[in-house]
Amino acid sequence: MADPDLMDTALCETLRRNPPLQLVLREARESLELPSGTIPAGATLACLIGSANRDPDQFSEPDTFNLSRAHQEPNHFAFGAGRHFCLGSLLARMEITIGARMLLQAFPDIRWAPGFEPTECGFLNRGPDRLEVAL
Ligand code: HEM
Repeated sequence: MADPDLMDTALCETLRRNPPLQLVLREARESLELPSGTIPAGATLACLIGSANRDPDQFSEPDTFNLSRAHQEPNHFAFGAGRHFCLGSLLARMEITIGARMLLQAFPDIRWAPGFEPTECGFLNRGPDRLEVAL
């Protein structure tokens, strides 16, 4: 609340650590040799965004929510990559940061309801199925 500009950074780190879309599917046009084995041409690949976003070779202490990370480490993959990169990413960022700022302005004492801990569920689309808050 003291620094509203931090909201975009907080969103960026939230999307890295807990991307709502966990995977994208691709089809291999040709066979591909990887250290872990061969991907045959035509195979369907599930590219795990959630896993890439916590790659310890890219992100230091990847399980930790770190607000200063966005300025020091590579971009996350929550909006995909390459030619199918999310067309709505800028709109999504704007909607979420404005909405979250307005929520904090309207309810400055907002906090989790006593005893509530958000738990994520779902695989393709992942997130908490409910949020209990005290205003
Ligand atoms: C936090 C919110 C959002 C997340 C995490 C997200 C994530 C993604 C991801 C990972 C992809 C890549 C899919 C792939 O490579 O197969 C994608 C594509 C896409 N997104 Fe989003 N998205 C979000 C919001 C939005 C919004 C608000 C819109 C539109 C208003 C939108 C429109 C699209 C479209 C049209 C594509 C397909 C782009 C293409 O195939 O060339 N997204 N999104």
